[in-house]
Amino acid sequence: MAKQLNGADVAKHNKKDDLWLIVHGKVYDLTEFAPNHPGGSSILLKYGGKDATEEYEPIHPPGTLEENLSEDKCLGEVQPDTVEKLEQKNPEKAVLQPGQIPPLSQCLNLYDFEVVGKQVLKPTAWAYYSSGADDEVTMRENSNVFGRIWFRPRILRNVSNINFATTMLGMKTTMPIYITATALGKLGHPDGEKNLTIAAGKTGIIQMIPTLASCSFDEIVDARINDQQVQFFQLYVNSNRAITEKIIRKAEDRGVKGLFVTVDAPQLGRREKDMRMKFDDTGSQVQNEGKDDVDRSQGAARAISSFIDPSLNWEDLQWLRSCTKMPICLKGVQTWEDAVLAAEAGLNGIVLSNHGGRQLDYARAGIEILEEVVTALKARNLWKPTFEVYIDGGVRRATDVLKAVAMGAKGVGIGRPFLYAYSAYGPDGVVHAINLLKAEMEMGLRLIGAPTLADLTPEMVDTRALGSHINPVPESHGSQIYQRLDTAIGMPNEPTNKL
Ligand SMILES: Cc1cc2nc3c(=O)[nH]c(=O)nc-3n(C[C@H](O)[C@H](O)[C@H](O)COP(=O)(O)O)c2cc1C
Repeated sequence: MAKQLNGADVAKHNKKDDLWLIVHGKVYDLTEFAPNHPGGSSILLKYGGKDATEEYEPIHPPGTLEENLSEDKCLGEVQPDTVEKLEQKNPEKAVLQPGQIPPLSQCLNLYDFEVVGKQVLKPTAWAYYSSGADDEVTMRENSNVFGRIWFRPRILRNVSNINFATTMLGMKTTMPIYITATALGKLGHPDGEKNLTIAAGKTGIIQMIPTLASCSFDEIVDARINDQQVQFFQLYVNSNRAITEKIIRKAEDRGVKGLFVTVDAPQLGRREKDMRMKFDDTGSQVQNEGKDDVDRSQGAARAISSFIDPSLNWEDLQWLRSCTKMPICLKGVQTWEDAVLAAEAGLNGIVLSNHGGRQLDYARAGIEILEEVVTALKARNLWKPTFEVYIDGGVRRATDVLKAVAMGAKGVGIGRPFLYAYSAYGPDGVVHAINLLKAEMEMGLRLIGAPTLADLTPEMVDTRALGSHINPVPESHGSQIYQRLDTAIGMPNEPTNKL
């Protein structure tokens, strides 16, 4: 039986050179580890001798402590009734509390979930989910780009029956949309990524499981609604390749049907909205008189950044191939040149993606690159059904999906809207969002004159304006999401001409 400790005794170990913490009822000695904590030692010191479970849980995938600490650092279990309850000075609050959230039926499209999401998420969660890199130009462009593509619908075709079922990497799906990988799912809802698994199963679409989920991989797989449900896996490659091999083998053993290796994040982008949140978390730098060791280059993202190996390169693909029989795709391809290299390397597909505008600002939108990629692959005889091209980023309407498919995409990934949907409504929210998209798909295909996806051809879209970047920062819905320093930390909002 584990050693039983008293909360009052644990509380005494709250100093830099003697630092214990309680997580999930267990007491850990973090004195030696603290200087190496990716989030800095201040945050550990803040919880010294106390129960840190609530802060720890959403941003550390299960097993983090076990993987980073030797067994002897777990000192025992604390008797729950002896632990003092933490009084938070300014507890984080969402704008809307349960009971104030609009009924699900009032959400008529994916943008509505964004509006609700902003109100129901705690500020730190909203900051992590909604943020993009730097000035968020790419993030906004991801949505705006679809406004530069117009339809050329055909008439007098028999559109009584519409069918948009398709396959991805040989697996059946009810529509050409998958739920893309998004980390830290529990920031929005205690069941995290499992909400997405359930909704994907109920609606017959595919979910891509993130490496850095808040739920454990097993929990997400166990949440499948039946044995037929298909899941893909998004892979971040760790510098310890043995860890990555273990992850891949486990994914394959548990029936994952495709591996998507993220290649656009050798370093995590600067998401300033997320970074600013940490000023509230551990006290401002001013209050700390500059003695603040927290790495402010990332907010919630800092919890995951150290996992990713920046040395990953084309030569590693052979090793990846040797680890698994699963189809392998690259997620985050951003030029036709790299698309060609991926096809030549014998991979099974690519996702044209800029990580939802969270990595390199001024990276172009996936759908813009799609046109170049299709042309380049066709010119080199590499445009084949065995090499599938996907896009993600800013897809919010079925018309966006139809544009992508008409231009050659096998399907599209959607990220944030599903996060917002489950943060507010659990799995039912995601099912509703997917059903809204299905209704839009049916109407869109009928009005374009394409009863099946095979009837949706490149001539049905006018892409002449696609590459024009005349005004990359238009006033769109995105500009309401961007948050400046003055509003972020409550400074008076001086007109700029007075500065
Ligand atoms: C909160 C959040 C977390 C993400 N985490 C990951 C991740 O862990 N791995 C990854 O490859 N992509 C990640 N992405 C990128 C998404 O897979 C996808 O490329 C992007 O969200 C698509 O854009 P959308 O959100 O506009 O639909 C994340 C995106 C968001 C918004």
